[in-house]
Amino acid sequence: MDIELEDRTINRLDTTTIKLDIGEPDTSMIPFDMLSKASQEMFADEEGKRQGTYWGYAEDEGNTSLRHNIVNFIHHSCGISTLSFENIFITNGISAMLDQLCTMFLRAGDTVLVECPTYLYALPIFRDHHLHIISYATDNDGLIIDSKFISEVLEKAKPKMIYLVPTFQNPSGFTMSHHRREQLVKLSLKYNFLIVADEVYHFLDYEKKETNGNIHDHSQLIEHPKSFAAYHAAGTVISLHSFSKILTPSLRLGFACASHEHVSAMGRFGLIHSSGGANPFTSGIVDRILTKDLLKKFIDEKLCVEYKKRMKVLHSELMQTFGENYISCRRPSGGYFLWIKFHDTTVDCDQLLIIARKYGVTFKPGRLFAHDEEAKAHLANCLRLCIAFVNSDKLREGCTRLKRAFEEYKNITLD
Ligand SMILES: Cc1ncc(COP(=O)(O)O)c(C=O)c1O
Repeated sequence: MDIELEDRTINRLDTTTIKLDIGEPDTSMIPFDMLSKASQEMFADEEGKRQGTYWGYAEDEGNTSLRHNIVNFIHHSCGISTLSFENIFITNGISAMLDQLCTMFLRAGDTVLVECPTYLYALPIFRDHHLHIISYATDNDGLIIDSKFISEVLEKAKPKMIYLVPTFQNPSGFTMSHHRREQLVKLSLKYNFLIVADEVYHFLDYEKKETNGNIHDHSQLIEHPKSFAAYHAAGTVISLHSFSKILTPSLRLGFACASHEHVSAMGRFGLIHSSGGANPFTSGIVDRILTKDLLKKFIDEKLCVEYKKRMKVLHSELMQTFGENYISCRRPSGGYFLWIKFHDTTVDCDQLLIIARKYGVTFKPGRLFAHDEEAKAHLANCLRLCIAFVNSDKLREGCTRLKRAFEEYKNITLD
């Protein structure tokens, strides 16, 4: 199979392979009871039927009650208190919104800047719009903002849009520092570009500081930079969130946080106006979950606890299996992904994947996360592993299989 194309049907039918490549929650991480109760309540809501709420076309900017509830959710989950419901636009998920933003703000030939590496499925969306894609280097603090970035990217290439995954990045797991976020927002005002922050993993922050008194020893916990939603007033920032990773992807529901002007323009978008806002049906379900304040508890007590455990297991297995002599691999404190870089620059992870499939384990090779040949060559000895689809036991077995594949590939024996 072409490494670039993932056949989801075949993928689901094959139950013997340990799929460390799949970036979605396994069924044990989906709150079926919560979703089922919320749906039943919606069907039983006679007032809602009379008013047409959930059952007809919605407001252009999305279900108003949900927009208010999202403001509260963001306030309580990440301490941002400057948003009003007029800064929230309901979307059909981040992917759909990226496409909408390209149609609204960009024209064929315009330049979009992405991180290297970047989210692999954003690239085809930008290609569909015939955009000129360029990338810039990242480090542990996210997109590097140095004098070369200003002179060669902002002044010469003049991107109209910068697309970032700033927190627990897909694929690398890094989180952009607060300082760089501030710098980038200032630069967006000076050089007049749009920042589109894809914050799909923002709420999967395993180590965040709690303010409700549950955790006593705050010294061990990391305070992550605020979401780009905090910069909505700048008028150059659009922060995209999604319920895909914190409830389930099939809801096809998310939200954008932006200036009131941007939100109104999003609502006037032809496709949205004709469809009567994004997904009124699943908006109704999620609205009920947020009204009862169930989501934050589910994220903190289920998702973060289990994913934190899995991330620790995977990282320590990898370090025991390969060790620092072979790989570098930082353990992120949130999100889905671990990024491995082989010190041996001749390792070609596309080739390694072919052998790994024989041993019944899959991953995403680094090249997929780059848009051009130079960037692909730079990422050829890297690979991405995901903790969301596979439990701890399978993560351990997956590492063993990966080790066997690597041994065959390099014709060596690891201790
Ligand atoms: C960085 C990133 N953005 C967007 C998405 C897709 O989001 P949605 O399901 O809301 O379209 C994913 C899913 O893997 C992702 O990793």
